[in-house]
Amino acid sequence: MKNEKKIFSIILVLAMVIGTVALSGCTQETENKIIVGTSADFKPFEYKAQNGTIIGFDIDLIKKILTDQGYTVEVQDIGFDSLIPALQTGKINVIAAAMTITDVRKQQVDFSNPYYNANQAVLVKVGADVNITNINDLANYSVGAQTGTTGWGWINDTLVATGKLDKSKFNSYELYTDAVSDLINGPTRVGAIVIDSPVAKAFAKSGNVKIVLNITTNESYGFAVEKGNAELVNKINTGLTAVMATTYWEDLVEKYFTT
Ligand code: ARG
Repeated sequence: MKNEKKIFSIILVLAMVIGTVALSGCTQETENKIIVGTSADFKPFEYKAQNGTIIGFDIDLIKKILTDQGYTVEVQDIGFDSLIPALQTGKINVIAAAMTITDVRKQQVDFSNPYYNANQAVLVKVGADVNITNINDLANYSVGAQTGTTGWGWINDTLVATGKLDKSKFNSYELYTDAVSDLINGPTRVGAIVIDSPVAKAFAKSGNVKIVLNITTNESYGFAVEKGNAELVNKINTGLTAVMATTYWEDLVEKYFTT
């Protein structure tokens, strides 16, 4: 009887061990897949190709980094303002969205090392009766930006909070592509857009909009991971440093920032 009990407990322990190993095998598999969240309205960093595929500087870069680190990558298009909540609730694992590293965001997420620098710029419609030569001139028009961005925050802090711009003339957009369409199709609704300088340049290439003002904000983009996920952020940093030291980096810059 005693022996039987012993054998039974040994079997039980064995079963538990095997079960644990099998289970950890499963999580291992799901852990190897990374869901990257972006807001695909921000050419050349993230945008949709004609066939709908999400491409761009950030997308190529993070895919390269993560696949080199042994992960498989899926990209999801989410509104910019929903990216941090999606990261915090585990719906996505990484944000690759030309996201500026800010102190406020650092309290909510962890950032990789910076990979690109930018400032803000003011876009207006080509041929529109809009005269903006300094920041104060913006107050004479409706001004727009994508909700939750640093451009949006700049308008809010510099123009609205100081009383220079009436709240009713501050337009928030879910997507920067919508803001620019609005600028082109109806300058009575929005006269100017505040947007990251490299993206302003890309929009200006269409010939429909132009940059009339540069605002120095000294921003740096980083990839974001859930707060405390040191393992993933370390892997991204290792991969980023490695990629930056190869011609892949130059080719990527050339691919998305020239012509
Ligand atoms: N760099 C700005 C920020 O972090 C704008 C980023 C917008 N990104 C985008 N994919 N729409 O707030």
